[in-house]
Amino acid sequence: MADENKDASQDPLQENLFSLEIISLKPIMGSKTAQLTHTALASDGWEYAVKSCDDGRSSLIKAAKNPSLVPASEWICNKLADTCGIATPPCQVITDTNNNQTFFGSRYDLSALATPVSILDFIDHLADSDLLQRQVWAIYAFDQFVFNIDRNTNNYLYSIGRDEKTIVQAFDFGLSSLVLGWPNQTGTNLLPYGCPTTDTWRSIKKITGTNQSCIDAALSVLGNLSRINVDFLEMICDRMPPSWLPPLQRTALLSWWDSQRHSRIESVRKEVLR
Ligand SMILES: Nc1ncnc2c1ncn2[C@@H]1O[C@H](COP(=O)(O)OP(=O)(O)OP(=O)(O)O)[C@@H](O)[C@H]1O
Ligand SMILES: [Mg+2]
Repeated sequence: MADENKDASQDPLQENLFSLEIISLKPIMGSKTAQLTHTALASDGWEYAVKSCDDGRSSLIKAAKNPSLVPASEWICNKLADTCGIATPPCQVITDTNNNQTFFGSRYDLSALATPVSILDFIDHLADSDLLQRQVWAIYAFDQFVFNIDRNTNNYLYSIGRDEKTIVQAFDFGLSSLVLGWPNQTGTNLLPYGCPTTDTWRSIKKITGTNQSCIDAALSVLGNLSRINVDFLEMICDRMPPSWLPPLQRTALLSWWDSQRHSRIESVRKEVLR
């Protein structure tokens, strides 16, 4: 019985249950990204885009108030998005056993593209597909909730469904949530105008218009966020290495979630219905 009550994050055996090991780590070649410096081949045989607390710290992005919280933000947002019914690539905690450094890993979707084949093509698909419209509205509501400033067209993964239509997954929450001072410093504030998320949204909304099916998709995400209780969020936090989120910030997040998240959800609901 005592074991059941033990905090999993304090138990190295438990922690290993939730992590993969690195087989090899490779620096990113080619064009520079803001936070991603390495990819890793992991013990499950798949390649991951990996981010450590140090990658955040060395990034030059000025908007990042707490850059070392990049892995925690990625982990929490991916798990919450997934729970709300938003498609995201699978993610894992990955450990380098040489030095016990831990990484957030986003599993490479080898069949997807991280850039639309062409923007015009994406616009055509968006105008044509009710499903894609619902996806981008759901992702927008979620991004507003977690204060993700960076949803540009290169932060969706694009695939072609069996009906030949484009579908997307949301990835890259490295400039969102805890990194940006969410939730206590953002309170109920919506994203600022002029950030990639709001700029991209303006263009998307011109194409989709505002129809009930899109609104319903966004409201469904907000409804799910209001149903995720603090114990569930705590479980998500317990499954990442304790070093990713200092105890004070963890306590502040959980306490905000328990008492104040509904005001933020309400603020996003008004934006979605606007
Ligand atoms: N799960 C994944 N599947 C496929 N490609 C991925 C995945 N994760 C990351 N990538 C690729 O790695 C690139 C950089 O990843 P990511 O956007 O998370 O890092 P970043 O440093 O925040 O980048 P940027 O500043 O360019 O947005 C992506 O644009 C994409 O090409
Ligand atoms: Mg990116």
